[in-house]
Amino acid sequence: MIVVGGSASQKLSAALSKVTGARQAKVEIKRFPDGECYVRIDEDLKGQEVVVVQTTYPDPNLVELFILLDAARRMGPSKITTVVPYFGYARQDKLFKPGEAISARAFVKLVGTCTDEFVSVDLHAPKVLEELTIPHTNVSVMRAFGEFFKDKGVNLVLAPDKGALDRANTVAKVLGCPWDHLEKTRIDGSTVKMAPKAIDAKGKVVAIVDDIIATGGTIIKATEALKAQGALKVFAACAHGLYTSNALDRLTPVCDAVYSADTLENPTSHVSAAGALAEHFMKKR
Ligand code: R5P
Repeated sequence: MIVVGGSASQKLSAALSKVTGARQAKVEIKRFPDGECYVRIDEDLKGQEVVVVQTTYPDPNLVELFILLDAARRMGPSKITTVVPYFGYARQDKLFKPGEAISARAFVKLVGTCTDEFVSVDLHAPKVLEELTIPHTNVSVMRAFGEFFKDKGVNLVLAPDKGALDRANTVAKVLGCPWDHLEKTRIDGSTVKMAPKAIDAKGKVVAIVDDIIATGGTIIKATEALKAQGALKVFAACAHGLYTSNALDRLTPVCDAVYSADTLENPTSHVSAAGALAEHFMKKR
């Protein structure tokens, strides 16, 4: 197996090569003066099983993935697996208003035409993978977060909403602690209460886990509510730290710590998706 890392996923590609013992191809990636992308894979891929790893956010990284896949295909590999650690446009997974695109499905379908297998990581709505006719898997870093939290005293894991309950469940199972999801209750026209549905957070060290932190609004609201209810500490954790609109600056004073995986490389990337991805590739051997 040879790992071809795109520019958005260099660290994760290196970590994946290390864990799996696969060689990491030398790749030249640069921009032309007009901003267009140039790639060249400096490795003989003929007859090889190739794994191309590239996060597709922001947009230029999506373009880079397509030309990397073209470069790889032209060298005659026996198989190409595309790993998209953070899949941009994942949250536009359905029609919210008539006339819109379902961007997540459109890009899944498009990538599917250029690869033999597709692997995503904690995809926002894995249902969009039903667009693919090739083998596909959505792996999760949530077990790795469970391991990560083992020495941090976490004794309650919360999902910010019901949709993220499976993620909280996975983390909590590793820790052997309870899990729950937060529920918004409208008190009156101008007041909402956000609290765990069934478990009291008072005196607890809480980890809130989500797939994405974007503006940070969800986590900030949840953390403030939990602190008001007497939670001792609140850690925020996500697979994908997008951190738009200065989210980290606003999260840092509110949460006791913020952690993300390395699907998007940033200072909070304390947990690697390499283990979950390696497990997937080892299983296939
Ligand atoms: C939404 O369904 C996602 O799972 C996240 O909860 C959401 O993307 C977080 O966004 P923000 O950080 O902007 O509140």
